[in-house]
Amino acid sequence: MTGRVFPESFVWGSATAAYQIEGAAREDGRGPSIWDTYSHTPGRTRNGDTGDVAADHYHRWQQDLDHIAELGLGAYRFSISWPRVQPGGAGRFNQAGLDFYSRLVDGLLERGVRPVATMYHWDLPQELEDAGGWPVRETALRFEEYAAGIVAALGDRVHTWTTLNEPWCSAYLGYASGVHAPGRTEPAAALAAVHHLNLAHGLAGRVVRELAPTAELSVTLNLHVIRPESASAADADAVRRIDALANRSFLGPMLGGAYPADLLADTAGVTDWSFVRDGDEKVAGVPLDVLGVNYYSSTLVRAWDGHSARSDADGHGASAHSPWVGADDVDFLPQPGPHTAMGWNIDPAALTGLLLRLHQEYPGQPLMITENGAAFDDVVSADGRVHDERRVDYLRRHIAAIADAREQGADVRGYFVWSLLDNFEWGYGYDRRFGIIRVDYDTQERTWKDSAHWYRRLVETGLPDQPAD
Ligand code: FCB
Repeated sequence: MTGRVFPESFVWGSATAAYQIEGAAREDGRGPSIWDTYSHTPGRTRNGDTGDVAADHYHRWQQDLDHIAELGLGAYRFSISWPRVQPGGAGRFNQAGLDFYSRLVDGLLERGVRPVATMYHWDLPQELEDAGGWPVRETALRFEEYAAGIVAALGDRVHTWTTLNEPWCSAYLGYASGVHAPGRTEPAAALAAVHHLNLAHGLAGRVVRELAPTAELSVTLNLHVIRPESASAADADAVRRIDALANRSFLGPMLGGAYPADLLADTAGVTDWSFVRDGDEKVAGVPLDVLGVNYYSSTLVRAWDGHSARSDADGHGASAHSPWVGADDVDFLPQPGPHTAMGWNIDPAALTGLLLRLHQEYPGQPLMITENGAAFDDVVSADGRVHDERRVDYLRRHIAAIADAREQGADVRGYFVWSLLDNFEWGYGYDRRFGIIRVDYDTQERTWKDSAHWYRRLVETGLPDQPAD
């Protein structure tokens, strides 16, 4: 095959998040976040794992940036730990924390790698949760102040500012099903959190526009691709309801100017949405240079008849409480295999469909895949290597799915593999490995898996269909 499938301008990167890799949880003035509290609470994470040490990236960042450079990546998506740069979440900033990210950004620029900084990848300062967390409006205002501090410090050295990572998880897993920090199970609070995250996004977006006018602005959403079990009207309505909760509760205010009326109606028994004030949706609608999309698997639903056994197989962890606020009559069905080690189904065609939907609904809106990847039970072979052919296959298929969407007109400008390194996978602790680089947690040694070698070749050639090592 000759020629490139992806143009030279297509951005290849990898992504990480602060709490998942940094460690150094109590160093240099960092304060506690909700994930410190949650992971240190017995029974919350697998094996009681915490991010105290993680991949020790706080001390090994230079070596990790060298790996990024050796992979030939054009961009690196990392997140800034709010409690490291502004412990307590209000007032004074911690210079040592700001200096860490300043060095990181300079280190990327020296290596010719674009810094893509996420302001919030789930590590809310514990003090702000103690004051009510995302269900209260004040948290959005605190986020605006935090954004001003980090944008003033790092400014346009950061190529792209991403306000939030997957606010769906922050709101619904954090406050409804409780499988993420802070582990609350209060449906009305989850919807208030949805709104205050949307507001926080808009407030922080305006800060970026004012303080770093040449930087690009984005947000990252984990948009769900939801399919019905049958062609019945009831199943179609189940899809509509889950689409409202999962996707349009964020796309509505951020890109469409308002919350969708059906979302408000569907959840009227949970809340009256009186926390939405005049003008909030306008703030949330700050124009985006790029919409970040995280995609791993798809969702299959049916209308629940009220008496047959429920599956509740939505892939977001076992909890007696549903993240799907106000949608108790929707059931989530197990999907046919193959699955990854997360139990998530592998469905690249759904990614093509999602990108085309966004292209149709928001024409002209540039898109980026800000996360995609897979956990598998990696084995270190006798030759010392990790022959992770299933991960290579997963990546190859999803990247081909993006090429398909591009051919059909979707303006997808980049791809970030999740993840650069094995890391702390939230409630699953260190039990799930997503890295293209293996981390030995005893020695902190980094080893390129076959997927890393494969990815480097792809980045070089722009061809997703080269054979694996
Ligand atoms: C996403 C998160 C990321 C990682 C992957 C597997 O939901 O943004 O931190 O945990 O899933």
